[in-house]
Amino acid sequence: MSEHSLPVIVTLFLEDYVQTPNGLSKVFREAGLMNYWYPISQMPRNGQNWPLVQDMVVRNFRLLVFTSMESKEKSEGIAYQWNYVVENQYGNDGMIARSCVNREESSALNNKSKSLVLVNYFGSLPSKQLACVHNSQDLINILQTCHNAAGERWPNFVAVDFYKVNLNYT
Ligand SMILES: *[C@@H]1O[C@H](CO)[C@@H](O)[C@H](O)[C@H]1NC(C)=O
Repeated sequence: MSEHSLPVIVTLFLEDYVQTPNGLSKVFREAGLMNYWYPISQMPRNGQNWPLVQDMVVRNFRLLVFTSMESKEKSEGIAYQWNYVVENQYGNDGMIARSCVNREESSALNNKSKSLVLVNYFGSLPSKQLACVHNSQDLINILQTCHNAAGERWPNFVAVDFYKVNLNYT
């Protein structure tokens, strides 16, 4: 790998329905992806800062995997998403102007013991037409609203539908 190659870091948020014990970790291991795995022992807890991208790349911590199953953090060493991330409501209920509240599984958005912030902004039913509106000024508005709700923190992750579709209107 050349020193000028683009550092890639991938984060997976798994809506996890894998019931087989160690089934998920087996897949990552057999695919050779443990070489890039960000170990939970190194993940910041209690509101500590995450390392710089540069430091993550140097240490080859380039794959972050989060599971929605709490038990897997202990049993398989896979990070339980809501131990590290706060997240607002998704779907239509999350698209109310000037409102940004946590989804049920998440701590309050301003709880800084979770260092990462994920903002959802997409309708309950995907609509390519509406994505033009949702992914433009509406999105800027929700990012500002959630920034305030999360204790002056910008999101690390933004979840939208049809991410390539936007209309730059103001
Ligand atoms: C923030 O989250 C932590 C860990 O889940 C919890 O113990 C604490 O009570 C929360 N703090 C507030 C202010 O809600």
